[in-house]
Amino acid sequence: MRLLLIGFGTVAQGLAELLLEKDKELREKYGLDLKVVGISDMLKGSAYVPDGIDLAQALKLAKAGKKLDELPGKFDGDALAMIEAADADMMVEATYTDIKTGEPATSHIRAALNKGMHVTTTNKGPVALFYQDLARLAADKGVKFLYEGTVISGTPLLNLIRETLAGSYITEMKGILNGTTNYILSEMEEGQPYDDVLKKAQELGYAEAVPDADVLGWDALAKVTILANTVFGVDVKPDAFPCKGITEISADMIAEAKARGKRYKLIGKVWRDGDSVKGSVGPEEMDLSHPLAGVMGATNAVTISTDTLSDVTIVGPGAGRVETGYSVLIDIIAVGGQR
Ligand code: HSE
Repeated sequence: MRLLLIGFGTVAQGLAELLLEKDKELREKYGLDLKVVGISDMLKGSAYVPDGIDLAQALKLAKAGKKLDELPGKFDGDALAMIEAADADMMVEATYTDIKTGEPATSHIRAALNKGMHVTTTNKGPVALFYQDLARLAADKGVKFLYEGTVISGTPLLNLIRETLAGSYITEMKGILNGTTNYILSEMEEGQPYDDVLKKAQELGYAEAVPDADVLGWDALAKVTILANTVFGVDVKPDAFPCKGITEISADMIAEAKARGKRYKLIGKVWRDGDSVKGSVGPEEMDLSHPLAGVMGATNAVTISTDTLSDVTIVGPGAGRVETGYSVLIDIIAVGGQR
């Protein structure tokens, strides 16, 4: 299976590490012979090698802050030119999220689907803004369009709903959908200043390229919209739902809430209201005894209310390099793995 990596930042590098580490297991257990034939990154440069790029070398260059130009097969052209020129089975779209326009990722995804490539993305913009369109295009072309990593990174929430909870009717989903803000609120409770913690979240690869997206709630809003569109089957844009972040929550408010047996959490929700689907993002004071109140750090958790099992809760990493890289591996195995 020939892969094209569009974007070689945190997520794609996490994936590359996993592909190297799990090469033997992927061959033996899933019959998967994976080759990354192309990498295109707006800042780091591009390379195309039909026999497969040396991922260890690509990682070494990226970690040293060097361009990919030293790889054999230097490619002159942008991501769209690479998608047009490349002979590949699946594209991994892992460029930065632009939640207002969904670009340039949406154009990359459309081009790859039109060429008959399967697509997996961790990019929230295209799925929050254009899911129904992209899913239709993929169906028309007879290929898969997968996006496990767009909501709570590699913790397999979307697979859980699609595969394991098949046949259940979902009435509500509610939880902690953003790792950065949960990490910030947890560390502030330990007395760490907001600015220091935000910087640490960036260093750990949790925060978005523009951290406003995390702290103002937009990232959680994108995920709420993705859940509304993909699980609840509507076609809405993020501005359909009210959204508030954590910037108004001070250290004093956190300490005062704690003294009353409460804890602030940034909660994202989607629910059915008669025939319509509603959503929201905002900080909530929760009793310390509430299961979501005990979820700390960059960990995320979502409670899924169903007609079959009542409430099912999934808890796991919501951000991070290998954690999000793993979400892409799940989708690659879903497309090409033998099980
Ligand atoms: N910035 C996001 C978060 C990354 O903190 O949850 C995962 O979508």
